[in-house]
Amino acid sequence: MKDILQVLEDRRAEARLGGGETRIAAQHAKGKLTARERVELLLDEGSFEEFDMFVAHRCTDFGMDETRPYGDGVITGWGTINGRLVYVFSQDFTVFGGSLSETHSNKICKIMDMAMQNGAPVIGLNDSGGARIQEGVSSLAGYAEVFQRNVLASGVIPQISVIMGPCAGGAVYSPAMTDFIFMVKDSSYMFVTGPDVVKTVTNEVVTAEELGGASTHTRKSSVADAAFENDVEALAEVRRLVDFLPLSNREKPPVRPFFDEPGRVEPSLDTLVPENANTPYDMKELILKVADEGDFYEIQENFAKNIITGFIRLEGQTVGVVANQPMVLAGCLDIDSSRKAARFVRFCDCFEIPILTFVDVPGFLPGTTQEYGGVIKHGAKLLYAYAEATVPKVTVITRKAYGGAYVVMASKHLRGDFNYAWPTSEVAVMGAKGATEILYRSELNDPEKIAARTKEYEDRFANPFVAAEKGFIDEVIQPRSTRRRVARAFAALRGKKLSNPWKKHDNIPL
Ligand code: HXC
Repeated sequence: MKDILQVLEDRRAEARLGGGETRIAAQHAKGKLTARERVELLLDEGSFEEFDMFVAHRCTDFGMDETRPYGDGVITGWGTINGRLVYVFSQDFTVFGGSLSETHSNKICKIMDMAMQNGAPVIGLNDSGGARIQEGVSSLAGYAEVFQRNVLASGVIPQISVIMGPCAGGAVYSPAMTDFIFMVKDSSYMFVTGPDVVKTVTNEVVTAEELGGASTHTRKSSVADAAFENDVEALAEVRRLVDFLPLSNREKPPVRPFFDEPGRVEPSLDTLVPENANTPYDMKELILKVADEGDFYEIQENFAKNIITGFIRLEGQTVGVVANQPMVLAGCLDIDSSRKAARFVRFCDCFEIPILTFVDVPGFLPGTTQEYGGVIKHGAKLLYAYAEATVPKVTVITRKAYGGAYVVMASKHLRGDFNYAWPTSEVAVMGAKGATEILYRSELNDPEKIAARTKEYEDRFANPFVAAEKGFIDEVIQPRSTRRRVARAFAALRGKKLSNPWKKHDNIPL
């Protein structure tokens, strides 16, 4: 009996070694943790339960039958993050470069199926050379099985990908279909084809970092949602994110203990908006002052900075925030900001996370670059996302709310539940200067007349009261009381029930 127990321990020890000491040392030398070390850091201490530790591949080509390491390059199982269930897979680069074989795929699919059935997030720690070349089409089929599950799980359970090494070819498409992608700076890459193929096909010479590093994907392509300094920080941030999210679409987001007075008054907000309507101010200040304990988890911080997206808590409950940022491009909407915010709004709506919108938007960015790039269709994504969202929606206009952008930003007309405005708001078709130049074109050569016309327009429209008269603004509020107003509004909306007409699925302008 004792011998058998020892056999199990010996086998386990072998499995834990993955591709062996030398490859583990190589992994560490690159500043990367091993697949197992990552799982240990991600999950609550001692909570990891492994599946399929002894699974080995079935490939016999290219002499593969001589090397059949336990686990086949991926560690899978479940555990908890702050006591809440999550499923996890962690690719082991020390075993065939973490490449995906048929059996490797089976292991991932098994935990995805369980996560769906039991209603818990899947977190994928990706470190993979892509399809296992020796397995040919079997590995492609394996990818397809994972992709199919990613799609079926979308909107049912949160899916989070962390890119912690090279991810090439098929290895990028599964993360691309998950809700959030995090990368590790200087050690993770994502590309469909690597620098060598790029050179052969297009003659472009580019490094892996330039082509698909963390900076590229968080600043240029927006494929990734955030980048962190190292594995440890990335995993800690995933834990922080999971704390904001419900386990599935069957559950409400978690409610955390909070140590911040919901009625807290912030007198400094009364002077947040500058006297001059063209002077920028930092919208993040408002977000931080409204949030419980000033805690804000920002998503896509370095992309399309003219709009801010992320999670806060109000009275311990998760709230998704979307806010125009007057510090960047005057907070206008453009292709990138519309796409960024639309995806975020849709995530919140999938998982019953209420949405708080702060508005200071002068309109859509004009120009050929925007029009040729399809700003009509991309802008429509945000309009569509807000209009279809049935979660509680609370909107606060702080300053400008002009034109189509006013409508888009969770206006009353798109089923906003509570639409507040600060006294500094200007709800109008456009700014006073632009409006007078169009209305009084014949007087343009008379600066005095134009100044008088502009003043007249400002007096009439540069305020929240015209909209309030029509009931498009529910209440004009003091900036200092924003946290109290917003917290009470969401509290009043906890029982909200609203559904859209039955359909197979919608047809959002992609
Ligand atoms: C089998 C692989 C592998 C793969 C790496 N290895 N990628 N084995 N299949 N796809 C093995 C290597 O042979 C090596 O084994 C070990 O992993 C480490 O790889 P290195 O090259 O030494 O590491 P590094 O220098 O860090 O480079 C990592 C890399 C590179 C950038 C990922 O290995 C690479 O370019 N791999 C191939 C990437 C690729 O083209 N994949 C196929 C994509 S096609 P030893 O024994 O020497 O340690 C695809 C299509 C799917 O994925 C489409 C689905 C729809």
